[in-house]
Amino acid sequence: MNKMRLLVLVLGLHLLSCQESTNEKNTNNSPSETKEIPSKDLHTQCNADSLSIRHLDLDIKVDFISKKISGNATWTIQNETHQKFIRLDTYDLTIDSVLVDGAKTSFVLYPMVHHLGQALEIPIQKNTQQVKIVYSSGSNARALQWLTAQQTLGKKQPFLYTQSESIYARSWIPCPDGPGIRFTYNARVQVPKGLLALMSAENPQQVSDSGIYHFKMDIPIPAYLMALAVGDLRFKSVDARTGVYAEPPMLDKATLELSDMGRMVNTAESLYGPYRWGRYDVLVLPPGFPIGGMENPKLTFATPTIIAGDKSLVNLIAHELAHNWSGNLVTNATWNDFWLNEGFTVYFERRISEAMNDKGYADMLWELGYQDLVATIDDLGKDNRNTWLKLDLTGRDPDDGLNDVAYEKGALFLKLIENNVGRARMDTFLKNYFAAHAFKTITTETFLSYLQQNLIKGDAALEKKLNIQAWVYGPGIPNNAPRADMERFNKVNTTLQSFLKGTSAQDLTTQGWTTHEWLHFLRQLPDSLSVSKMKELDDNFHFTTSGNSEIGAQWFIQSLKTNYQTAYPKMDVFLSAVGRRKFLEPIYETMIKTGKKEMATATYNKYKQNYHPLAQMTLDKLVLAK
Ligand code: BES
Ligand code: ZN
Repeated sequence: MNKMRLLVLVLGLHLLSCQESTNEKNTNNSPSETKEIPSKDLHTQCNADSLSIRHLDLDIKVDFISKKISGNATWTIQNETHQKFIRLDTYDLTIDSVLVDGAKTSFVLYPMVHHLGQALEIPIQKNTQQVKIVYSSGSNARALQWLTAQQTLGKKQPFLYTQSESIYARSWIPCPDGPGIRFTYNARVQVPKGLLALMSAENPQQVSDSGIYHFKMDIPIPAYLMALAVGDLRFKSVDARTGVYAEPPMLDKATLELSDMGRMVNTAESLYGPYRWGRYDVLVLPPGFPIGGMENPKLTFATPTIIAGDKSLVNLIAHELAHNWSGNLVTNATWNDFWLNEGFTVYFERRISEAMNDKGYADMLWELGYQDLVATIDDLGKDNRNTWLKLDLTGRDPDDGLNDVAYEKGALFLKLIENNVGRARMDTFLKNYFAAHAFKTITTETFLSYLQQNLIKGDAALEKKLNIQAWVYGPGIPNNAPRADMERFNKVNTTLQSFLKGTSAQDLTTQGWTTHEWLHFLRQLPDSLSVSKMKELDDNFHFTTSGNSEIGAQWFIQSLKTNYQTAYPKMDVFLSAVGRRKFLEPIYETMIKTGKKEMATATYNKYKQNYHPLAQMTLDKLVLAK
């Protein structure tokens, strides 16, 4: 048997064993099962646990004609344990050549493993220092969205951006693509003249004449935080350490909306310790961006759908900012520990919102989050294994297993701890937690033992009240879950009841309502509301033409449920431009559930090309599956 066939066989067996332990329908909730959850990161094929991979020098060219990134990635390594080879993650990359300490070397590109990609294996010596890979990205690069000029706001120049979390960095850089592996990087990026390039690094504030940009990130980060954006972008500063990048037609509006960013960073620091990343800037992307925001270090990537005109959706920036502590500083060791990134961040985000607004405001965010959690758990089934905080993503694409549970159940668990120990103790604990684990990757179990040693400290009564086991290694929402104060939403409920009892829309008490009150109002509307009542609401509050994406999306869902067709043309425009999965998924899903499958298919086929590959992956399954 030749070497290649042997490799295929070994890999085939490996894949088989992954699939065997996959059990998406596993509904056995016995906490004793936790021992079986692997603590090793199964979503990277890199052998970084036996090597040290310290630094990346990236030298790439961005070509909008061929829609390819090409160039080379040079890894500085230390082979302390005398490994015979280094294995890196790749996905749909073409490897042209490999050089080890300057000498051309043979390499093996393993066969594709479903969602993990192809491991690239390169022989090394015990004194090897540098491994250089000459490569280009493929047409199925899952991290990359190439926009035509037409798909941007300015309509003049093409645009490229990456979304590397969770395991997609490997589709544009051959890399050790696991959250547990951190490295520093320098990059040289060549783009068409006139365009600005930005990365998760120290960034330029002006367009360069040559189209060549140099980047430096001297704080070690995991691969999922590698990011690049190229387009017709400009910078505007907010204060000395914060600023906004956006396409020219969006720049002033976005900067006004985000004018509290400086204060937001100060608030975050006063809660949980210094911001350690130098500048904090936000890049407002074209509307096709598939997610709300991405915490790329030094430069948060954000959807333009948060630019509402009244700062009502800027808590998304608080969220991405908070990740600079929970996530970027203290990182989940594997995607099974995702709640350590997202649950902590949601808790932190709401603390920032509370400090910058007031408790009543934060309570609305908590309640909306709780509603989302209930909906997700209803959808998954209350005993579903995917509703544990500690996930088991063995053999699966993390993208299929990461859901609201990590965010909202995770945040609620921290809120429960806060309620039991008091805010002062909680804050000291969290501040110390971030400091103690700074620039480290940790598992759920590391957190739990830190919690035991530093907060619970043998207090059996406290431990009983928390019921950690049920939260972390059990399904659904445990019965000691805290609920937010409903003061502001109770008023909304009263207004809604009076509308349902016949008060006309124009006589309703809605003064001073923020986006959150409106969202609560819209979410509680009965599915059976008549078209004439829908019209009455619309005539008074102009939901169909609302410039607010959250309100618009919720209204379109309600319109589908009640067959309020007046909203459909605007919904179509929304779906043509907005690529944010959070909005696309429920809208398309509601179309299907309300018997409008044809509308879903026709609309999706019309606009699919406008959506990011990751959004297409999700929607293909939802809309095109039989
Ligand atoms: N890190 C996430 C985005 C993410 C998670 C990308 C998992 C890929 C895989 C980001 O911080 C996030 O949570 N974004 C939310 C924002 C929200 C919770 C305020 C989003 O995009 O909706
Ligand atoms: Zn997040």
